[in-house]
Amino acid sequence: MRALLFDRSAETGLRVGETADPVPGPGEVLVRVRAASLNFGEVALAAGAVPAGMDRPPEETVLGSDAAGTVQQAATDGSGPPVGTPVVTFGLVGAVAELRAVPVVLLGVVPSGVDLGAASTLPVAGLTALRALRRIGPLLGRRILVTGASGGVGRFAVQLASRAGAHVVATTSDPAAHGDALRALGADEVLPGPGALSEPVDGVLDQVGGRVLVEAFRALREHGTLVAVGHSSGEGEAFGFGDLFGNDGGHDRSVVTFFLGATGDFGPDLTWLAGQVGSGALDAEPAWRGGLDDAGDAVTALLGRTLHGKAVVDLG
Ligand SMILES: NC(=O)c1ccc[n+]([C@@H]2O[C@H](COP(=O)([O-])OP(=O)(O)OC[C@H]3O[C@@H](n4cnc5c(N)ncnc54)[C@H](OP(=O)(O)O)[C@@H]3O)[C@@H](O)[C@H]2O)c1
Repeated sequence: MRALLFDRSAETGLRVGETADPVPGPGEVLVRVRAASLNFGEVALAAGAVPAGMDRPPEETVLGSDAAGTVQQAATDGSGPPVGTPVVTFGLVGAVAELRAVPVVLLGVVPSGVDLGAASTLPVAGLTALRALRRIGPLLGRRILVTGASGGVGRFAVQLASRAGAHVVATTSDPAAHGDALRALGADEVLPGPGALSEPVDGVLDQVGGRVLVEAFRALREHGTLVAVGHSSGEGEAFGFGDLFGNDGGHDRSVVTFFLGATGDFGPDLTWLAGQVGSGALDAEPAWRGGLDDAGDAVTALLGRTLHGKAVVDLG
C-alpha cells in the first residue's frame, strides 16, 4: 500500500512510499482509509522535534493518528462494526496510508453520507478539545478562554465551549486574519492575547504555552482551571513572584496538564463527534486538502506555521 512514512533522509522527515499492508489482529478491523488528517505535533516529531519522554518512531513507520474510511474486514472476534461501515479511527501511528488495522476500541462510527475528510479531522483535535474542556467542569454561563484558537484543537474548542453555553473568548496571534472565522464558529470575543482581556475568565484551554500560558493563568478567576493542552510556542513558562500566591488575584486556581493518549475509551466520543459533524452542529472543514502526493506541501506549511487549522490528505 502507499503511505506517508518516517524517513530521516527526507527534508521534512517524511516521504511518500510503498509499505506492507497491515494485518489486523484479533479485536481489530481493517479499514480502507479514504482520508487522514495531519496534526502539528506528529509532523514536528517526524521533523526532529522530539518532546522529552517520547521517542521518534522507527524508520518506515506510517505517520498519523487520524484516519477515516470504511471497514474492509471485520474483527475476527466478532467485535466492532461490520464490513462497509464508515468509521473514524485513532491511534498513535498508521493513519496516512491506504489501509489501517485498528482496534475496535479506537474507532467511532460515522453517519452515512458524512464527508470522511471532515470526519478524519476529529480524533486528535476533536477529542482533545472535548476532553480538555470537560476538565474545566460545567461550562454553562462561564467565561472560557481558548488560546491558539485558529489551530486544529482551538477551532473545535471554540465551537464546543460555545455549544455548551460558555461565553467564549478566543485568542489568536492574528485577529485580523482569523477573527471573522472564529466569531462564525461561536467566539464571543476575539483578542490578540490573554493580556487584552477586560474581565477574568473561569477556565482556559491553552494550546500555546510559554508567556501565553502565564498571562492566561493571571486572567483566571478564583477556583478557575487552566488546562495546559499544547506548547506550540516552544517556550517554557516563567511565573512572576506573586503569580502563585492565591491571594486577591484569585484563590485556588489550578493548572492541570493533559494528555489525550492517557484518557482512554475513545469510541463513544468519536461516534458523538462524527454525529455532530453529520448534523451540521460541528464545523470540521479542513484548512488544506489534497492527495497523498501533495501531502509534503501540507507538512511544510504546518512546520512553517502558515497553515492554520486541519490538513486533510485524501487517499483513494
Ligand atoms: N496534550 C495533548 O494530548 C495534545 C493533543 C493535541 C494537541 N496537542 C498540542 O496542542 C497544540 C495545539 O494543537 P493543534 O493541532 O491545534 O496545533 P495547530 O493547528 O498548529 O495550532 C496551534 C496554534 O497555536 C498558536 N500559536 C501561537 N503561537 C505560536 C507559535 N509560536 N508557534 C506555533 N503556534 C503558535 C497558533 O494560533 P494563533 O495564530 O491563533 O495564535 C496556532 O494556530 C500543539 O502544541 C499540539 O502538539 C496536545
